[in-house]
Amino acid sequence: MSPDDLKRQAAATALEQVRDGMKLGLGTGSTAKHFVELLGAKVRAGLNVIGVPTSEVTRADAERCGIPLTTLDEVDRLDITVDGADEIDGALNLVKGGGGALLREKIVAAASDRMIVIADDSKLVETLGRFPLPIEIIPFGLAATRHAIEQAMASCGISGELKLRSGKDGHAFVTDGGHWIIDAHLGRIPDATRLAATLSFIPGVVEHGLFIGLASSAVLASPQGIRIMER
Ligand code: A5P
Repeated sequence: MSPDDLKRQAAATALEQVRDGMKLGLGTGSTAKHFVELLGAKVRAGLNVIGVPTSEVTRADAERCGIPLTTLDEVDRLDITVDGADEIDGALNLVKGGGGALLREKIVAAASDRMIVIADDSKLVETLGRFPLPIEIIPFGLAATRHAIEQAMASCGISGELKLRSGKDGHAFVTDGGHWIIDAHLGRIPDATRLAATLSFIPGVVEHGLFIGLASSAVLASPQGIRIMER
């Protein structure tokens, strides 16, 4: 079974939680794309839901699949967000943002009664941090913000290389919100809650990819079957 098959299985399992009339947050990434495609098939068969996409890429996918869309300007709460993750720990804390959509993903997840994370089980880790932590920043004041991030990391007893993410054109990768991303190569984040709070205090940091206490459950697919983790 390929990793892609596993992602689709996780997406199909999450889809079982969707009921007629629900308002859904639609995640970003290769796993979330499976969910959007499977949901689209249900919508075309008569399911009545409305979605809020977490990126322009997901918006285009959802439109192509025929899923009716709205925004968080028009609705203030969602029933369920289904999204992927780059890392998941045993407490259901996450690293997200490998695809660069972390800001909208976090806003949408925080506006949802439940966030279901879908992934193949390679994403489950003992300690977060092997995957570089995406930190979304305002382009203004790059060097100062980078310095402040280093100081914040040091205050949490960690260090690592900070790399400005490049896009396909070789220039800085630009998010849907017009910001840049620094990927922090930390290796290990012993206290993710503390680092999350510390990074959030930095003026040039718009958001970071640590999702603490947002996920309600995770659907992890492996060749041995589906495992569901609940908080
Ligand atoms: C997008 O910004 C990310 O948060 C994705 O949800 C995450 O990178 C998981 O993506 P995959 O499902 O492609 O691994």
